[in-house]
Amino acid sequence: MRHYLDHAATTPLRPEARDAWLAASELVGNASSTHGAGQDARRLLEDSRERVAAVLDADPIEVVFTSGGTESINLALQGLWHARAAGTDGIVLPDAEHHATMDTVAALAAEGAAVRAVPVQSDGRIAASDFAERLPGAALATALVANNEVGTINDAASLAMVSASAGVPLHLDAVAALGHVPLSFRGLRGAADAGSGLVALSAAGHKIGAPVGVGALVVARTANLTALLRGGAQQRGLRAGTQDVAGTAAFATAIELAEREREAESARLAALRDRLVAGIRSRVSAAVLLGDPHARLPGNAHLLFPGAVGESMLFLLDVAGVAASTGSACQAGVAEPSHVVIAMGRGEQDARSVLRFTLGRTSTDADVDAVLAVIADAYSRASGSGTGARS
Ligand SMILES: Cc1ncc(COP(=O)(O)O)c(C=O)c1O
Repeated sequence: MRHYLDHAATTPLRPEARDAWLAASELVGNASSTHGAGQDARRLLEDSRERVAAVLDADPIEVVFTSGGTESINLALQGLWHARAAGTDGIVLPDAEHHATMDTVAALAAEGAAVRAVPVQSDGRIAASDFAERLPGAALATALVANNEVGTINDAASLAMVSASAGVPLHLDAVAALGHVPLSFRGLRGAADAGSGLVALSAAGHKIGAPVGVGALVVARTANLTALLRGGAQQRGLRAGTQDVAGTAAFATAIELAEREREAESARLAALRDRLVAGIRSRVSAAVLLGDPHARLPGNAHLLFPGAVGESMLFLLDVAGVAASTGSACQAGVAEPSHVVIAMGRGEQDARSVLRFTLGRTSTDADVDAVLAVIADAYSRASGSGTGARS
């Protein structure tokens, strides 16, 4: 039997989302066509937009559907940079962001953007004061609502507030937080002036039980953003291209269900996660929980196994039927040390000795038991010499 503890990488498709996708896929019309078939598709698309907007507490017109988190982040960061106000310069970038953000900003730096790096604390948190210090005169700022690797939940309201005070547009990456942390675009935006404070928020469907390939960027009406894709005038001209009606119907269904279940599911997952962490630490006394122990995503258990090779433990767990991760999935094929763990002040060795277990909707006690049954053996084989570790 296989045990899936990598819900932060992607989640199982919800049956209701699949049903919504299948039903919508029967429609033939292009949502931009004026004939009846097109208008049927349009109605369903706009209904999905309204449902997503309702969950995120935004105006429907602010919801720009994309192909997922990476596209949303690229649209936000490249779009804000290319439309930046005259006289502004620099991008405020915390050190522990997702690679979609780090690499997009690196590309903009190659175009001449100055990076204003913000250190994170030892638990992965972004201090609003450190963030605020780097804001004056910046063209834009970005931050994670919750860290996808170590699970620490940031104080997004404070980050939005200091950005609004400094008159800087802020993008929030809510991909890992979606479905676990209450999100109100309107609330986080507050009374910020046009074009400053929270102006864009990224989300991805496949982290909450929708299919891979659909997501959204919530873009404030007053934001100044240049489109990445050129073509048709769909979605306020911010995202040209025929819209994925079926994908958005599935996304709307999944996000509503995730929100409806959020509180009860958070409590259930936190209890399972706490049992997992306590069980691991009783079997591997050297193991250390990284990230904020309290303000963390309910399904996230991120542990340092001192002296072990994380990739080797991952392999040994996989052989035993347990799917986990050493960090974000985008890095998993490449055995790099985690930049997040390094940003938290640990050395390269530690950054190669971490494992992330993430629980979700389908997780059960049996998944926790499966990890606990093999973790001590995996640790001893993956540490020291002659370990049976993958070379
Ligand atoms: C915090 C965060 N941002 C962005 C992404 C990228 O999203 P996607 O996989 O939908 O492109 C991920 C995915 O792991 C993530 O966890």
